Amino acid sequence: MAENSPFTRIVMTAKVRDILDAAQPWPTIRAITSEDIPWLANAAFESYPRRGLHRDWDATVAVTQEIFRGEWGPYMQVASPAALSEDGEILGGVTTVLRLAREDAPDHPYVLNCLTLPDHRGRGVASGLLAATARAVAAVGETQVSLTVDEDNADARRLYDRLGFAEVSRGPSAA
Ligand SMILES: CC(C)(COP(=O)(O)OP(=O)(O)OC[C@H]1O[C@@H](n2cnc3c(N)ncnc32)[C@H](O)[C@@H]1OP(=O)(O)O)[C@@H](O)C(=O)NCCC(=O)NCCS
Repeated sequence: MAENSPFTRIVMTAKVRDILDAAQPWPTIRAITSEDIPWLANAAFESYPRRGLHRDWDATVAVTQEIFRGEWGPYMQVASPAALSEDGEILGGVTTVLRLAREDAPDHPYVLNCLTLPDHRGRGVASGLLAATARAVAAVGETQVSLTVDEDNADARRLYDRLGFAEVSRGPSAA
């Protein structure tokens, strides 16, 4: 059942240097492309709480498609890695836009999705993905990365704290 009560979202920013000091890029990655929309929509539906942008399956598919249509900002494929197992199975993924298409957004590359499939959590997949993203944005001269996290998402907040992300603002969910 969809959760309709309002929730708080936190915008966080980290220096790419701090991310790379805290984590090693995942060893086997490939870029996430529009061909991965089915995988990404399924993974997002399985990973995120049923509310806001991911309140139901149709909303999750729609927002995933919007990313690749550039509606959230210019998709940065080079900074959007999937982590692969030795067998080539996708374990998790990060999607990034060069700038979030919102007036008040931080002036840095922006991570839209960061998720690891439930069976593969706690092995450094997400840390390794964000390190790969940090390395990719550094390669084009960017020094910081931003993202949004739900206030009540304890697992993600521990991850982001560990990688050097710091809160820049917070507010109620728009969706
Ligand atoms: C948040 C999330 C992305 C973390 O993914 P993950 O791959 O488990 O992250 P990591 O493995 O890098 O870090 C998780 C824990 O594993 C530990 N860890 C990291 N590398 C490890 C390794 N090689 N061996 C054992 N443990 C390891 C970390 O220290 C961390 O510990 P902590 O929970 O005490 O902080 C994942 O829980 C998820 O997909 N959640 C649902 C989607 C979501 O909410 N995403 C965030 C949106 S903003």
